[in-house]
Amino acid sequence: MEQYVISGGRRLAGEVAIAGAKNAALGIIAAALMTDEQVTIENLPDVLDINVLLDALAEIGAIVDRVDRHTVRIVGRVQTTTVDIESMRKMRGSYYLLGALLGKYKHAQVPLPGGCNIGSRPIEQHIKGFRALGANVDISFGNVNADAEKLSGGHIFFDIVTVGATINVMLAAVLAEGQTIIENCAKEPHIVDVANFLNSMGANIKGAGTDVIRIRGVEKLHGSTYSIIPDQIEAGTFMLATAATCGDVRITNVIPKHLEAITSKLMEIGVRVEEEDDAVRVVATKRLGNTQIKTLVYPGFPTDMQPQMTTALAMCEGTSIITESIFENRFKYVDELTKMGANIKVEGNTAIINGVEKLTGATVCTPDLRAGAALVIAGLVAEGCTVVEHVEFIERGYENFEGKLKSLGAAIDKFDENDSRGIQKFKLKCG
Ligand code: EPU
Repeated sequence: MEQYVISGGRRLAGEVAIAGAKNAALGIIAAALMTDEQVTIENLPDVLDINVLLDALAEIGAIVDRVDRHTVRIVGRVQTTTVDIESMRKMRGSYYLLGALLGKYKHAQVPLPGGCNIGSRPIEQHIKGFRALGANVDISFGNVNADAEKLSGGHIFFDIVTVGATINVMLAAVLAEGQTIIENCAKEPHIVDVANFLNSMGANIKGAGTDVIRIRGVEKLHGSTYSIIPDQIEAGTFMLATAATCGDVRITNVIPKHLEAITSKLMEIGVRVEEEDDAVRVVATKRLGNTQIKTLVYPGFPTDMQPQMTTALAMCEGTSIITESIFENRFKYVDELTKMGANIKVEGNTAIINGVEKLTGATVCTPDLRAGAALVIAGLVAEGCTVVEHVEFIERGYENFEGKLKSLGAAIDKFDENDSRGIQKFKLKCG
């Protein structure tokens, strides 16, 4: 097992470039299977979840050619639509194989998705959507099985706003006969990105990014070259790390519009954020002020930024309140922050954060991807040395996280947990 060792107390400064959006890439890679022609995907993040999904594509017979670290060519002529691959049980994005394979081949068997343990994560809205298009769907032996003689356009009204089901049903509907209308859709930027990619392959999708998506089915899709949008959450994480360390960082390769919910909260708590065309500069010079936040679907404050924000606010002036309205189990990292001296009380889906003057280093355990990033931020501001265990969670969604932080002046390194000599040397070097 690998761990980060961080010597805290250094202010982040400099410039950092953001990678492509992981959650867009997951949908786009699955969508690439929907044509027999070659697809080239650029600005692909080099993170664990993406690499595991690409391996799965290759295992079912697609040709996957990693041209370079951020570019992949895929020819999606698969040999089987039964995805019997253990790694797919551990990630969330595997569910997009259902929509893509069902849409193209009218059959898919995919393991029930796993992913971060942040609350119950049912998929009944995905299933409801597939059924509305004429598919038979059942769950047996830990797999979701979907098949249809043909798919026909349908009218779907989601009971809740869900990113995954919006993308999945959109995937299945692009090759269905006739028109599909999906209402009460999620509006996240990566939904628009997947729709744009599908349209670049010849699909006819209108309204992505609004409540209602209209899809006219086409007979087939063709090859395309497409560049993925920047990762809004990676960008937000660096914004929060900068704010927490009283730093000054220019964050490049971003779409500032996608960051507005984060930007406006940072400004409210006394951080300067300067927007450029494709960059934001974050400058913090004083202790953060307090605020109240409720996580919401886009364009609200993203649940994927909640742990990072809570961590930054752990040292705010006064009391802040954060309410998590998307996932019910997303405060598990708070116990770890408490070990570092934070004063946070969780009541149901609300965290009451009484700002403390300082955090102190401790050994903490990463419960999931975004919480892991948050614990790293805590380590960056804490006095002394922090060990963040289970780096593999963080590597699911952050490319070269420690390298990027180091380039901004952080004292952080990755070690095997058994490398006590290396860890000792690092600690001595950092003082
Ligand atoms: N939900 C249902 N039924 C469904 C689908 C969702 O009840 O059929 C509920 C969920 O339990 C949750 C809420 O609806 O309470 C929202 O779920 P959503 O479907 O929007 O989330 P997801 O598709 O499971 C994606 C991202 C998450 C991100 C959420 C919300 C991927 C692979 N995952 O999950 O990303 O938090 O949307 O924006 O795209 C992360 O990157 O760290 C991460 C967890």
